[in-house]
Amino acid sequence: MHSPTLHDLETLARQAGVILRAGYGQRHIIDSKSHAIDLVTEIDRKSEAFLLENIRHHWPEHSILAEESGAHHGDGSLWYIDPLDGTVNYAHGVPFFSVSIAYAENGQMHLGVVYDPMRDECFSAERGRGAFRNGQPIHVSATDDLGHALLVTGFPYDIWDNPNNNLDNFARFAVRSHGVRRLGSAALDLCYVAAGRLDGYWEIRLKPWDVAAGGLIAAEAGARVTNLSGENDYISPPQSIVAANTALHAQMLAVLHEKGA
Ligand code: IPD
Ligand code: CA
Ligand code: CA
Repeated sequence: MHSPTLHDLETLARQAGVILRAGYGQRHIIDSKSHAIDLVTEIDRKSEAFLLENIRHHWPEHSILAEESGAHHGDGSLWYIDPLDGTVNYAHGVPFFSVSIAYAENGQMHLGVVYDPMRDECFSAERGRGAFRNGQPIHVSATDDLGHALLVTGFPYDIWDNPNNNLDNFARFAVRSHGVRRLGSAALDLCYVAAGRLDGYWEIRLKPWDVAAGGLIAAEAGARVTNLSGENDYISPPQSIVAANTALHAQMLAVLHEKGA
């Protein structure tokens, strides 16, 4: 059993992407999960089943944390699977979503791939070896002034009934930057920061599979990636994440802390 390579992850993500593209724009069976707006379609499940079957076939000893089926316990090698990041977009026919796959050994993230099947863009990173878009190196932007930055964020699924819902942060950043986008795929949000298309990203109460691959890709592209307290762990609960070049990251943290977030 060889250790998985970045190429292995890219192949899996592209194959799962074929499943998403084939189902895109069709009528879906849509169910709600934790909250009314936390959706899942039959295509999320189909993509996840494909990924689990292939990972288990090639790496039967490995542990897997997958969004739709939870934890599969194995050895110290851990896969993070988001079979369709951006389900709300997907269910509404908005072509912005991705497959996200990350691989960690003994608690350290090694490989990450995020694939956008509608644009055929494959973002990838291996620890210590940089970040790439379709094989070409990518870097975070050099925008070092919040007033010139284009930001992106998202909102937790309990936004209807939890007042700690990130709307206050959104309002604060919206009047101090070039704008704040809500694109709907945390994994792609991080990759857009990695590619310098967007300057900074923050979000709260995500799950490990949302940020495992994108966080590594952003970091390898030169981003500082932390939780809202400025600590390195942006995966464990209570989860939060901020990603931007170092200068902008500091300015974003300052704004997020204005209310003691
Ligand atoms: C969601 C997306 C969205 C973020 C949500 C996530 P899902 O993932 O990444 O951008 O704001 O909080 O849960 O449910 O589409 O896999
Ligand atoms: Ca997700
Ligand atoms: Ca998902």
